[in-house]
Amino acid sequence: MKELIFATNNKHKIMEVSEMLKDCVTIKCLSEVGLSGEIPETAETLEGNALQKAMWVYERTGKDCFADDTGLEVEALGGRPGVYSARYAGEHCTFDDNVNKMLAEMEGVTNRKACFRTVICLIEKTANGEPATQDRGFSVRYFEGRVDGVILTERYGEGGFGYDPIFMPDRFAVSFAEMPLEVKNHISHRGRAVAKLVEYLRTEN
Ligand code: IMP
Repeated sequence: MKELIFATNNKHKIMEVSEMLKDCVTIKCLSEVGLSGEIPETAETLEGNALQKAMWVYERTGKDCFADDTGLEVEALGGRPGVYSARYAGEHCTFDDNVNKMLAEMEGVTNRKACFRTVICLIEKTANGEPATQDRGFSVRYFEGRVDGVILTERYGEGGFGYDPIFMPDRFAVSFAEMPLEVKNHISHRGRAVAKLVEYLRTEN
């Protein structure tokens, strides 16, 4: 079975993705391939960060790998916090700090439209070469997932993580934090991006 390194040690993400890929790919996380340390994430776009993280792994292992990056993009904030979603309220802030800052910035704002966007970057060694990438010996592919919704005016629900208590996806009357995990995974940004990766791996391998 094909092996892929997932550039993360986040157990929740590994479980989610391994489950979806279980019949065609074996997923290894960073610690399983002996990699440790902070992976740099200094790009200004989700695509850039996903590529940077996947390249970090590829350069150290020479093996097929992928990385993901997610951002919450709020229309009234000009797309912020976007690529800075994890550090929105400052370096080393908590999920709670970020939610508090978002509620404060959005106080009294009527346009509450927002979306979560996930970009996955997959790097694969090219065996016999694909014309465009033959010279560097590997190919790079991106898979994007997106879910639209609104920023609520207060927290609802106890589940999930991050901005889940204040994000309500379109066509639902509850926040992400109030949904069973299977439902959230089915419609979420990350779930949709992973589904595209799975479809590609199933057809290409
Ligand atoms: P990451 O790129 O997956 O680490 O996500 C960056 C940040 O976006 C996280 O630190 C969370 O604040 C937020 N985030 C990512 N995915 C979700 C989600 O499914 N629900 C709520 N917040 C999320």
